[in-house]
Order: sequence, then C-alpha cells, then structure tokens
Amino acid sequence: MTTEHDDLEREGIELELFVQALQRRHGYDFSQYAPASLKRRVLQLVAQLETGTISALTARLLHEPGVLPQLLAGLSVPVSDMFRDPAVFRVLRERVLPVLASYPRINIWQAGCAHGEEVYSLAILLEEAGLYERSQIFATDLSADALLQAREGIYPAREAQQWSRNYQAAGGTRSLADYYSARYDLLKFDRRLRRNVTFAQHNLVSDKVFSETHLVLCRNVLIYFSNPLQDRCLGLFRDSLVRGGFLCLGMRESMDFAPTATDFSALDAALRIYRRNGPLLESHAPR
Ligand SMILES: C[S@@+](CC[C@H](N)C(=O)[O-])C[C@H]1O[C@@H](n2cnc3c(N)ncnc32)[C@H](O)[C@@H]1O
Repeated sequence: MTTEHDDLEREGIELELFVQALQRRHGYDFSQYAPASLKRRVLQLVAQLETGTISALTARLLHEPGVLPQLLAGLSVPVSDMFRDPAVFRVLRERVLPVLASYPRINIWQAGCAHGEEVYSLAILLEEAGLYERSQIFATDLSADALLQAREGIYPAREAQQWSRNYQAAGGTRSLADYYSARYDLLKFDRRLRRNVTFAQHNLVSDKVFSETHLVLCRNVLIYFSNPLQDRCLGLFRDSLVRGGFLCLGMRESMDFAPTATDFSALDAALRIYRRNGPLLESHAPR
C-alpha cells in the first residue's frame, strides 16, 4: 500500500524527469520555475492529455515531437487583461510617458506579453500621448501560440465592459470602442495599433538583452520563477534599459530580495514601477 508521502515523492521524481526531458530533447529549461505552480500546470496537462501519470506525459514528449507546442502552451499561463491594474497604466500615462516624450526615439520591451492585451493598452497610451509614431514596441513571449493570438488582436466581446472600465480608470478620456471593431462575439483591435509593434519569441531563461530600451514591462511573469531566475531577469532588464529607463513589474512581484535591486530606485513602490539608477550618459539623455 502506498502512502500519500510515497505518492508525493514519486510525483516529485517524475516532475524532475519531465523537466530534464524537456530540456535535453527540446532545449526548454523549466528547472528554475517555482516548483509548486509548475507541478500544478504539469498535472493539468496530464489531465488534459489523459496520460494518467507525469511519466506517461514524459514518454509522449520524448516520442511525439508534435506534442511540444501543446505542452508549451499548457506550461505558460497566458492570462491577461487590457489595462490590467489600471492604476499602473495611469502612472505610465501621467508620470512615465511625459519623461519618455523627451527622447527622439522610444524603445519599449514588453516581456511575457501573452495574448497581447497589455501591448494594445500601451499602444493606446502612446497614441493618445502623441508618441506612437516615434515608438517601437518589442513584444515577446516564450509561447509561439500566445504570440500568434497577440498578433491577431482578437478577443472575446464579453471582456468589453470590464476593459472599458479599466481604460477609464487608467485615465482614458475617449471610448475604448474607438480602438476596436466588434463582430458577433469578438472584438478586433485596430491594425494601426500594431504598426510599430514587433512580436517575437524570446525566452527569459536563456535569451539575451534588448539594447537601448527606455521602458520594460514584464508583469506577472517573474512570479512563476525561482528567486535566482528572477534575479537573472532583473539583470537582463537592467542591461536592456538606458540609465533612467523605467521597469514595470507585476503587482505581486517584488525585487526586494534580489541583488540586482540596488541598480534600481522605486518611482512607485506599491505599483512596482522602478527606474534604472546611474547618471544619464550623453547618448541616453533626453533631448
Ligand atoms: C500571466 S502571463 C502575463 C501576461 C501579461 N504580462 C500580464 O501581466 O497580464 C505570463 C506569460 O509569461 C510567459 N512566460 C513564461 N515563461 C517565460 C519565459 N521563460 N520567457 C518568456 N515568457 C515566459 C508565458 O508564456 C505567459 O504568456
């Protein structure tokens, strides 16, 4: 007879082997993700693919290359919202964009953009501030599936009311409906909002920095990572940002534990909006 302790131990071993197989076979390293939430998602995949055990899921991963996109989609959590945490977008609108306005070109990196709701939100802020034309947004995610949807910019119409309230709470003065067309039960965001957006796959575990960035948004992604991996990401963001550049994390994320925190100062600690420290280099200074 097996005890609950035996079951947990076996599942722990199976999870380790699954993570190893994913890395060795396909090069995706999940070894530094927070174990509890990773296990939850792997068990959801076990249920979804009806494999019964994590070991059987690992066998499919090893023997069926075609299953990889489904696994990656299941391991990522692409939930988001337009103007999620409106107070954050209000501060971006009122305190961050006026500083960015002094740069001749504005580079923005949105890491972990999921289905793109925050990308369109930010594009709307830039448009309304008259900054869109000189802005370039790099919107990245690990999941190719999520990026496909982000590019489409099509969302369920049931979100319209909540998103409209978020937009107003973030200081929006028009109607959010000005930016999408509604058809049946879908909303399609205006293509013009993505004319300066580049969507690309980028893995925060293993890929490199973007350079000369003025604003990095990476919200509700680090929460899935272990502390050392979070610190690696903070280092990536620091090295991507010009001095004085802005970093925006998720409301439940913190950099207090991280060695890299000394390279940032809080603009609004409660809303997790920071600036990279250091004297402005001439080439980074606003004109
Ligand atoms: C909860 S969503 C966050 C969406 C949006 N930023 C927000 O706050 O609403 C987390 C996203 O992080 C992405 N992600 C997870 N691991 C990643 C990694 N190693 N590199 C890049 N993106 C990753 C997932 O694919 C998912 O789309």
